[in-house]
Amino acid sequence: MKKTLFLIALICMAVAPGANARKKPQVKQHTVVEVPKVQPQLIAIETENTQLLLKTTDKGELQQLRYGVKLDTAPFENTRKRAHDAFPVAGGYTRDDVALSVTYPDGNLNTELYVTGVTQNKAAGIVTTEISLKDYVTLLEVKLVYEAYVKEDVIASHSEILNPGKKPVTLTGYASAAINIPGEEFLLTSFHGDWAYEMQVQRTEVPYGITSIQSRKGTQTTYNANPSFLLSVDAREFSESSGDVVAGALEWSGNYKIDFSRSTSGSVDIIAGINPYNSEYPLGPGKTFRTPRMLWTFSPRGAGQASRNFHRWARRHQIYSGGTVNPTLLNSWEGAYFTFTTPVLTGMIDDAAAMGLELFVLDDGWFAKDFPRNNDSAGLGDWELNTDKIPEGIDYLASYANEKGIKFGIWIEPEMVNPRSNLAAAHPEWVVRSPGREIIQKRNQWVLDLSNPDVQDFVFGVFDRTMQLSDKIEYIKWDCNRSVESLGSDYLGPEQSRFYVDYIQGLYSVVARIREKYPNVIVQCCSGGGARVDYGSLKYFNEFWTSDNTDAITRIKIQYGTSMIYPACLHGSHVSAVPNHQTGNMTPLKFRFDVACTGRLGMELQPKNMTEDERVFASRCIESYKQYRDLVFTGDLYRLGDPWNTDLYGLVYVSEDKSRAVFFAYSTTFRSRALAAPVVKLQGLDPSKQYKVTELNTDHSYWWGNAGRYKGEYLMTEGIDLNFRRMFDSAVFYLEAR
Ligand code: DGJ
Repeated sequence: MKKTLFLIALICMAVAPGANARKKPQVKQHTVVEVPKVQPQLIAIETENTQLLLKTTDKGELQQLRYGVKLDTAPFENTRKRAHDAFPVAGGYTRDDVALSVTYPDGNLNTELYVTGVTQNKAAGIVTTEISLKDYVTLLEVKLVYEAYVKEDVIASHSEILNPGKKPVTLTGYASAAINIPGEEFLLTSFHGDWAYEMQVQRTEVPYGITSIQSRKGTQTTYNANPSFLLSVDAREFSESSGDVVAGALEWSGNYKIDFSRSTSGSVDIIAGINPYNSEYPLGPGKTFRTPRMLWTFSPRGAGQASRNFHRWARRHQIYSGGTVNPTLLNSWEGAYFTFTTPVLTGMIDDAAAMGLELFVLDDGWFAKDFPRNNDSAGLGDWELNTDKIPEGIDYLASYANEKGIKFGIWIEPEMVNPRSNLAAAHPEWVVRSPGREIIQKRNQWVLDLSNPDVQDFVFGVFDRTMQLSDKIEYIKWDCNRSVESLGSDYLGPEQSRFYVDYIQGLYSVVARIREKYPNVIVQCCSGGGARVDYGSLKYFNEFWTSDNTDAITRIKIQYGTSMIYPACLHGSHVSAVPNHQTGNMTPLKFRFDVACTGRLGMELQPKNMTEDERVFASRCIESYKQYRDLVFTGDLYRLGDPWNTDLYGLVYVSEDKSRAVFFAYSTTFRSRALAAPVVKLQGLDPSKQYKVTELNTDHSYWWGNAGRYKGEYLMTEGIDLNFRRMFDSAVFYLEAR
């Protein structure tokens, strides 16, 4: 009873007005921070033929006006009312998609950026525009950098995010760049695939809402989706030679995301960069995060010109030693796999040299003693020579190759480890693993944690020690056969979400070190075939292994897709045995050569299994390839048709001065003799020049007009009627102007 009375008294005290006067909660003053007014200005980012036009409002907001063919900006005419955020962020007005989102130390999620300065510098054919922006409340700073490659019509753009505060902030989204493309209809060409099935072309109308292409594989990009695209604007059909096309490619070898956000306002916003998936990134006080560059090009003349822009730019500015010719080669993989001894390899070297090839590459299987690498279940990580297989040593093989007049190269896969290896036992903490969980194996192997500087040193050491096996090693094939599963880094501790970014940055810092020490060695970028085909890796690598699929008929499509973004000088392209080891297909040797000769030619078989006639034919193809390969490596590519939709497909590579060209054609169907011969109209020639047209790689001629002289105009207007009747008929023509 006493207790009840006490409670009633308490309640009365609480509700009685004025009773027990409480302290009012302190209301924080909401002072609006003023954004200083600025002088509005137009920012023109221009190449020879294209223009990205930005402006600042008087409040300092950065907006994009247009991206397209170059127009005169003085006096500036703006016919469209609406401008778009040049770099949409999370904060202020809600956007459909954003390039940047940040969580601040107090939990605040809003960022608003205003321009504080613009600079423009010209150097060596590149005009660099830097736009500095600032958030006046959180004080975050962002720099947007646009590098305009004037002659090549390519613009590279990226962002740099600086935390000037005293506490760390967390980046939850940190794209490289954004661009807005107005239009009524959009056809997106992107590249999906899988192992032995890379760069499969996919064309889709861009739907309203957000469509993404992305990778979450950690170590790789390309198998499933290459970080690149072509967007045909105001078009329902894909065209090689007409219509506006915007193409993009990201310089990043890990998780990425490219969003296409289409709204009813009649445009698509493209936002591209590192994939924020499981990648919240802490940015410490005073630290800057530099995003990878996004590459853009614009063509008013269809996809072909967009590809050529990227190709020229890549050869001149991006690919390691771009513009040089890499040697033809014999690779030991499909010819010997893991089963070889010195005599097998010297025999292959003899045959390679005899056929006129210029390099022999010893692939997987040469290393590990305690856990010998006799199949893919053991040995990765133990990079010591298996003396049971090659007792004479690598230097013996390299010297042997040199004596035969050819170079020597060797395979490594330094980012990986087999559980059955000494390395796995010695350094379990170097393996990517998640506490308490089984480590997932793929191809019987685990991934090493490249976010760890000790692992970076180890990976550098693998390359370095391999190079010490002989001073005659001139080529390294760097493989990476799996993706990251169940991510986990002992090294990163509580900051696991840095892993995907730090892995790729770790990789780049290793290959940059390698390049300092070994500037001249040719390094091929292989990732179980073409899973690491991107412009990030190509800064350090000379070429890539396009695909483990060496079947000529399916390779045509893989190489076609690859050529949309990446130049032919990069495409490792090998003639292999039939039936093909991946597909079981049978194709004639000539067809296999005619397909392989459109990239960096190689062979990947046991030459001992070839007939004498086949070897003679191979020697002829290799010899004639040397006559025109500079065109494949440095010429402009014109694709004729589409192997997905036509049964006659062709490629023309033309020298910059248009005085020489090489033309390849393939039949992918049977044609009755009753049908007219298919006609191919060439492209890219000089209409006024007269070309001598000579057929190469012939078993018999496929054109009645062989060795004649024809005007470029005629060849492009009337074309060549090829005597193609059967599936796998193919022809190569060399064109030389007087
Ligand atoms: C995958 C590569 O793509 C092949 O060319 C070959 O090097 C194997 N790895 C070796 O294991």
